[in-house]
Amino acid sequence: MKGIVFTEFMEMVESKFDEDMLEGIIDDAGVSGVYTSIGTYPHTDMIQLVMALSSKSGIEIPELLRVFGGYLFSSFTRLYPHFFEDIDNSFDFLQQVEGFIHVQVKKIYPNAELPRFETKRLNPSELQMIYYSDRRMGALAVGLIQGCMEHFKDDGEVKIVDSSNDDTVVTFLIRLAK
Ligand code: HEM
Repeated sequence: MKGIVFTEFMEMVESKFDEDMLEGIIDDAGVSGVYTSIGTYPHTDMIQLVMALSSKSGIEIPELLRVFGGYLFSSFTRLYPHFFEDIDNSFDFLQQVEGFIHVQVKKIYPNAELPRFETKRLNPSELQMIYYSDRRMGALAVGLIQGCMEHFKDDGEVKIVDSSNDDTVVTFLIRLAK
């Protein structure tokens, strides 16, 4: 997993909790805690950190991943402003993640491990998005989608309407408020 995800995660823990919490979970997780934004680290380190944060904070793992997704999206708007240049709404943006954004990400970081998405505009106010990834981070995707809607000031909700038993395939329904 790319270092940028770790550095943003650590920043979030410090800002939403504090430095003691960050040090505590690095200890509990048994990870090095040394990450640079351009490095690549084991995906399991992130799982260990999220599990440690969950037991220390009492917040469930999917909820932590969701909140982190929202935080990460707003970091992306700062770090990758060019992805936002010609788009003015969340549905257009979400429909570009698979065919454009993650494709560009893969060019910058050839070893990035990205999910695959299929999107379908059901009608002007509903978008279906299907997530495929062995990393089972559908809850992170929920937060990223919410962060995206907030960024474009699109009022609405995202719901998980289906998922495979092992959570490697998750279907989201994103609905704009009327
Ligand atoms: C400017 C927008 C975006 C950028 C720059 C971006 C970039 C990235 C990067 C760098 C990673 C880490 C890859 C790795 O660790 O190897 C990642 C992973 C991921 N991205 Fe994106 N992303 C963007 C938007 C989105 C959106 C809107 C969604 C959700 C619909 C999304 C869903 C995910 C998920 C769930 C992962 C975790 C890996 C997995 O589940 O397999 N991304 N993305």
